[in-house]
Amino acid sequence: MKILVTGGAGYIASHTNLELLQAGYEVVVADNLSNSSMESIHRVEKLTGKKITFYEADILDKERLSNIFVQEGIHSVIHFAGLKAVGESCAIPLKYFRNNLSGTITLLEVMQEYNVKNLVFSSSATVYGDPEKVPVTEDMPLSATNPYGRTKLMIEEMLRDLYRSDASWNIAILRYFNPIGAHESGEIGEDPNGIPNNLVPYVAKVAIGELEKVNVFGDDYDTPDGTGIRDYIHVVDLARGHIKAIEKLTQNPGLVVYNLGTGVGYSVLDIIHNYEKACNKTIPYAVTPRRPGDIAVSYADATKAYQELGWKAEKGIDKMCEDSFRWQSKYPKGYKN
Ligand SMILES: NC(=O)c1ccc[n+]([C@@H]2O[C@H](COP(=O)([O-])OP(=O)(O)OC[C@H]3O[C@@H](n4cnc5c(N)ncnc54)[C@H](O)[C@@H]3O)[C@@H](O)[C@H]2O)c1
Repeated sequence: MKILVTGGAGYIASHTNLELLQAGYEVVVADNLSNSSMESIHRVEKLTGKKITFYEADILDKERLSNIFVQEGIHSVIHFAGLKAVGESCAIPLKYFRNNLSGTITLLEVMQEYNVKNLVFSSSATVYGDPEKVPVTEDMPLSATNPYGRTKLMIEEMLRDLYRSDASWNIAILRYFNPIGAHESGEIGEDPNGIPNNLVPYVAKVAIGELEKVNVFGDDYDTPDGTGIRDYIHVVDLARGHIKAIEKLTQNPGLVVYNLGTGVGYSVLDIIHNYEKACNKTIPYAVTPRRPGDIAVSYADATKAYQELGWKAEKGIDKMCEDSFRWQSKYPKGYKN
């Protein structure tokens, strides 16, 4: 069965490609390489001993996308392609709306044209806005606190409208919590451009001495140690959730929504201290003011994914930090080595 993976050279996609190939799927990737490198594709091919069909393609380019559907006989699409930096989305929202919204509309039009109506979509816990209670369940009210989050919310709404108009679609919306870590081989991992926006890639750069100290944005939240609490999930567990979602689509479920998280929240300081254990070094940090838009606490109730997909996260925080550090110390410059 052939799966088209948009944004397939990126961080979560590279781990998903590996799981797909190992599970016997054929993988076709469309990526414009705006935030990734061909090297991740080569590494996955090497790790699995299997080929990936790669198209350097922008999902905004309808003709190019159509060509892939004509060539490949796609069964289902996993749609990762998108821009994801919250701060950047506040500075240049139109770029985010163009890329994420127009890109998704173009993809959906082409899928409809070629009658490929099985889709797994990368959504995010950000669609819960500032949740009124934790753990967060799928039926809670949705909102957005920044343009990036708004693109995820708008795409979810588009997908619900599309499904209402045509029930022959099968759509799995996966709301990821905070993916971290890397494949345990240390051969693939997260490779952000420039200074990382997210906590763990930043901590990793401090651990290898590339950055001086971690900025902890606020220690006056209403949490046990005052720092923000999130649900960190190992990227390999997350990748495996996509295999379960693809399996689910073959049962014609209609439109389904799942949280993919561990159900456990860790504070910023918990992460720093766990990382210190993994790298056997002290990680210097400094407390700075809160970042606008950051929320105090978010973690998942992932019961629905367990009951309906038979999926749950297996890897704990130690493993997440160890695998992140292995990748970072093996390839300090990521794929640019
Ligand atoms: N990493 C997270 O914390 C997180 C959390 C929740 C949701 N998500 C979502 O999961 C998806 C994957 O995230 P990631 O962390 O792997 O990011 P990533 O940047 O590593 O991967 C995204 C990929 O999409 C590609 N891309 C972007 N725009 C494109 C376009 N117009 N045409 C073709 N390719 C394009 C990029 O080159 C990149 O390879 C994104 O949609 C992201 O919003 C990520």
